[in-house]
Amino acid sequence: MDPEESLIVLSGCGTSGRIAFLLVTSFNEMVKAPKQKQICSYIIAGGDRAMLTSQEAPEDDPALGARMLDKICAGKKHVLFVGISCGMSAPFVAGQLDFCLKHLDVFTPVLLGFNPVHMARSEPMQDCSFHFKDVAERMIAEQRHKKAFVLNPVLGAEAISGSSRMKGGSATKIILESILLAGHEAAFRGKRVTPECISAWITASEMVYETTYSHSDELAALIHQAGESLQMKAHVYYIGWQTLGIIGLTDASECVPTFGADFDDIRGFINNGFREMKNKEGDLSFLGPEFVIGHKDFVDTILPSLSQNDVMLFLFTVNDDLHEVTALADQVRRRTSNLHAIAHDLEKFTIPVIVMVSHLQRWELSTKWCLNAISTGAHVLKGKVYMNYMIDLRVTNSKLYRRAINILQRFTGCSKGECERALLRAIYSTDDLSEDMTSADVWKHTDVVVPTALVMIQCGCTLAEARHHLDCHPVIRDAVSACFSSSKTKNFIKPLDSVEAEP
Ligand code: F6P
Repeated sequence: MDPEESLIVLSGCGTSGRIAFLLVTSFNEMVKAPKQKQICSYIIAGGDRAMLTSQEAPEDDPALGARMLDKICAGKKHVLFVGISCGMSAPFVAGQLDFCLKHLDVFTPVLLGFNPVHMARSEPMQDCSFHFKDVAERMIAEQRHKKAFVLNPVLGAEAISGSSRMKGGSATKIILESILLAGHEAAFRGKRVTPECISAWITASEMVYETTYSHSDELAALIHQAGESLQMKAHVYYIGWQTLGIIGLTDASECVPTFGADFDDIRGFINNGFREMKNKEGDLSFLGPEFVIGHKDFVDTILPSLSQNDVMLFLFTVNDDLHEVTALADQVRRRTSNLHAIAHDLEKFTIPVIVMVSHLQRWELSTKWCLNAISTGAHVLKGKVYMNYMIDLRVTNSKLYRRAINILQRFTGCSKGECERALLRAIYSTDDLSEDMTSADVWKHTDVVVPTALVMIQCGCTLAEARHHLDCHPVIRDAVSACFSSSKTKNFIKPLDSVEAEP
């Protein structure tokens, strides 16, 4: 593969884009040669700032996706493009796949998702004549001629949630890592890659899973600790090294749109900050406090006010500079004893046979699972989840707008129209909706609009009354429970199949 003429591009939105970034960074590191152009590149909707903060509006724009792809592939003759959309729904990715399908002389498009094609999103997209499902079906047609490929095993959290949000992304990582590593073995080491090699990697991931969850007691203790901290309005800080630092940053950044968390409730830091990230746009710290991510920044800005209620979690492996780890831990210990570590060593993951899998990739996966459990569990304990639904989500794009309406329907049993009106009332802060309000694009919302709408519908009250109710119950789950138990309407959840599926 000549990097002058060829390129592999991984692209996605939110978590999927962050996983794309992680895979590309590790792969380029593995194959790097002096003065050689990079073989692999990533695209994330919203650009590099989306790695640390949620930038969900650009996910709706298929033309933007196509333009970004066109730009990074300028001058290339062969491009393997992998569009990741776990829920088979992101318009940004659909636009890119459509672009590839129109230029099959250069592009070999691959769609990775965890939905059957017939369940791909069929809602119209912004300024576009086709929808995601159309593109997925065209991909299937081209697959017959081996010009395009659809990888869509129905597995994992993605198939249940219809999205990669928070707990998703692990299957994406396992599948694409296997493909990239297989390609590496074949192209750079002249090895014959058999289906057995690939399934050995999948089996290795299963063993990582077993090893990780064999520590469920320790994990439960950490969840408890983190939950207590959040309940006390204290913080959880992940201090990671190398790619484990990226895993920490990713997990932390997703808590904001998923649980309505503040950016500093759970925060990640990485050794050497953006220098270690090696992202395309470089140092983004000028963008604001969410982008201040180095260990040094932690020492300068957080450490002086660190309290015993804050949870410190170090993430490292035996390959890291253990003197550096110890020195930082000593500094932290002077302020708090609430210090924990997820530390990986070689012994714990002695998986025989598989040569193509590096320890680091297994450590990343294990760390991801631990952090996803800790941050999710902590927010459940904080009361941000009601009957397994993450109801305090931010409504910041069309998919999340539909999801919010679905949640309202499920809990209230009311019609889609009624739920949409209640949501709009909460979004526009009014009880009187005008024509303009009901027809505009409204998904730029960061307030607690879903719980507000839920209370309005369930209690049949005004916006002001709903807000007052929420103010009286600072814990979202308690607010919603109280409203259901006091309302005359019976508390019920509609069965899943009676609510229109999320597009
Ligand atoms: O729109 C937000 C979001 O749901 C994120 O939570 C998620 O990571 C992203 O979209 C991408 O989802 P998918 O991989 O299903 O396209």
